[in-house]
Amino acid sequence: MSAAHRLYSTARYITSSKPLQGFVGAIGNTPLLRISSLSKETGCEILAKAEFMNPGGSVKDRAALFVVEAAEKSGQLRPGGTVVEGTAGNTGIGLAHVCRAKGYKCVIYMPNTQSQEKIDLLKMLGADVRPVPAVPFDDPMNYNHQAKRYAEQLENAVWTNQFDNTANRQAHIETTGPEIWQQTDGKVDGFTCSTGTAGTFAGITRYLKDKSGGRVRAVLADPPGSVLYSYFKSGGKLTERSGSSITEGIGQGRVTDNLKQDVELVDDAYNIKDEVTIAMLYRLLDTEGLYIGASSALNVAAAYQLAKDMGPGHTIVTIIADGAYRYQSRLFSRKWLESKGLVDAIPQHLQKYIVLP
Ligand SMILES: Cc1ncc(COP(=O)(O)O)c(C=O)c1O
Repeated sequence: MSAAHRLYSTARYITSSKPLQGFVGAIGNTPLLRISSLSKETGCEILAKAEFMNPGGSVKDRAALFVVEAAEKSGQLRPGGTVVEGTAGNTGIGLAHVCRAKGYKCVIYMPNTQSQEKIDLLKMLGADVRPVPAVPFDDPMNYNHQAKRYAEQLENAVWTNQFDNTANRQAHIETTGPEIWQQTDGKVDGFTCSTGTAGTFAGITRYLKDKSGGRVRAVLADPPGSVLYSYFKSGGKLTERSGSSITEGIGQGRVTDNLKQDVELVDDAYNIKDEVTIAMLYRLLDTEGLYIGASSALNVAAAYQLAKDMGPGHTIVTIIADGAYRYQSRLFSRKWLESKGLVDAIPQHLQKYIVLP
């Protein structure tokens, strides 16, 4: 029996034999997956938290539950109340599910540039979706400001404010971080992932740093177009964004309140190019059978880089934030990949997966 077989179960183990409390009870306790091909190549254990196995399909189910429960605890949200958020992505999906499960109304403001698929999904989940003109953050008509104003004029309502509401980060301090620590028997040496609100990165980093007495190396992974890589590399300067990325849900122009408290814990930052991300996305599908979104492929590419930087014998953990299902019409379309100049970044033998025109 190989060392890997002794350490890792090939079957999904049962974490609890008891029934769970519906949707809300099924959030968290996701499996930690060993990425065999990358582990073998680097001599490290490269492990990824399978957050696509949350009941709403993404890591944001955790944040959605914590921001809603924080509002319940503070008395801001009472039975029959309304949850309002500005979001075009997974947070809206998580909130819509949690609101149905707990009996709240859910109102989602989003830029009107978003796909009909996203709007339809949120509507199917019972949300009141309000597409508004896509204008910059400093414009009062920006979707986030509209969400805040709408919540303020309602009785028994909360604007969950995912970027600066630290209940988001707390979800990862109380759940994801401890799960990673337990699942690795405290042997984790390095952690890396990208950031949108930074709740995931900051919460897990804080927990692992505290628990390990600072030993776990924390590396922030950033896509092109985000300012955080240059912020950390320059010792704290926020420079203008340049470039853009195919990744969705990540990349940031400022230090959010969710990141602020943990800035000094960040050991390094990586800038991962779209060419590297897309090649990893196709590679993981081919060698591991993993069908994951672009932000997750970027995270695994960063974990692979961290393994190479730390050297053999280390255990590196990252996050698979969601599956490819919501992005497949782009990520596997030749036309779309060509429009982004990314076909050549995918090795020839993997181009058979580009099945859409
Ligand atoms: C697909 C995806 N990846 C990563 C993230 C980033 O997570 P966080 O907001 O905790 O930084 C998000 C956030 O919405 C996301 O939707």
